[in-house]
Amino acid sequence: MTVSLHSPGRINKLQLKNRLILAPMQQHKGTPEGHATDYHVQHYGRRAADVGLVIIESTAVSSEGRLYQDDIGIYSDAHIEDLGKVVKAVHARGARIFIQLSHGGRKSHPLPDERLLAPSSIAFNAEYRLPFAASEAELELLIDRYRKAALRSQAAGFDGIELHAAHGYLLHQFLSPVTNRRTDSYGGSVNNRIRFVHRVTAAVREAVGSDYPVQIRVSASDYDPAGLLPLQVADFIAQLEPLIDAVHVSSGGITPVRPLDVHPGYQIPYAAVVKSKTALPVIAVGGIHGSALAERVVAEQLADFVAIGRPMLEEPDFAGQLLDRKPSPIL
Ligand SMILES: Cc1cc2nc3c(=O)[nH]c(=O)nc-3n(C[C@H](O)[C@H](O)[C@H](O)COP(=O)(O)O)c2cc1C
Repeated sequence: MTVSLHSPGRINKLQLKNRLILAPMQQHKGTPEGHATDYHVQHYGRRAADVGLVIIESTAVSSEGRLYQDDIGIYSDAHIEDLGKVVKAVHARGARIFIQLSHGGRKSHPLPDERLLAPSSIAFNAEYRLPFAASEAELELLIDRYRKAALRSQAAGFDGIELHAAHGYLLHQFLSPVTNRRTDSYGGSVNNRIRFVHRVTAAVREAVGSDYPVQIRVSASDYDPAGLLPLQVADFIAQLEPLIDAVHVSSGGITPVRPLDVHPGYQIPYAAVVKSKTALPVIAVGGIHGSALAERVVAEQLADFVAIGRPMLEEPDFAGQLLDRKPSPIL
């Protein structure tokens, strides 16, 4: 049977009404204490009608891990109520909603009295502070922060969790040899570099139970000669597979270097590589804004879902328009 954007999909036991997903996009509208506001309720509710799944923006598991000070967070029980309102608004429009749990590591903007934590003490660039290499005790604390954030996500009513392990943030920093120069059990070999991500994922899985959707967003390429390649990232996914329900394939962010060739769907081949190595559902993203291209991704099973970002900011009904359009032969 041919899969189309209209086909229902499934992540773990969660049924999604179609194959379109609102990609996570920071809104920079959190309060200084990391709360979501009415803005978020309106913003996500308005964009929920036509997609099967909304993934809300990077939401910090700890205050010092906010990517920017105006990010939202879920690092205290006090955040649950506001996020619960966002969940209700999205459910009211008939979509499901995941939260993206994140910690920025060396790419965070902590308060002056908070520590900038990373696997190793290497600054991202001159605009960021030099991070501290997190101690083993700090790593235990961070794992606990993810665990608590996962429990709060469930309490707020989210249908699932996306762990942000892409774009050069903390989890990605452990995976990549560019940023992880540790000599303890969290650095060096592939098995050591995946250890922190594995422990975080296992802690989240244990907290939320086996039926609750947990997926991971990865960068499939570091665009760096010393960095990760798609097949290596696919191997990481294979190791995590028993703990997760889907993979969202993006790229880049570990260094300030950007890919030279950013054409429509430029990350689809990465999604296809990951898909060829896993039985998990795969989400493709990045410039997949034409109906023919989006339909082709799912019909040819290069990926199972298509996430759409920027057009949904400009035009909240963009997903509906994409679904209504007849696939044209032109990409
Ligand atoms: C304004 C903006 C904010 C973003 N914030 C996040 C984020 O919080 N987490 C994340 O994983 N990606 C984030 N992204 C990346 C998007 O999820 C998406 O991967 C990217 O925009 C490519 O998809 P598109 O070509 O459909 O926009 C952001 C992108 C934009 C434009």
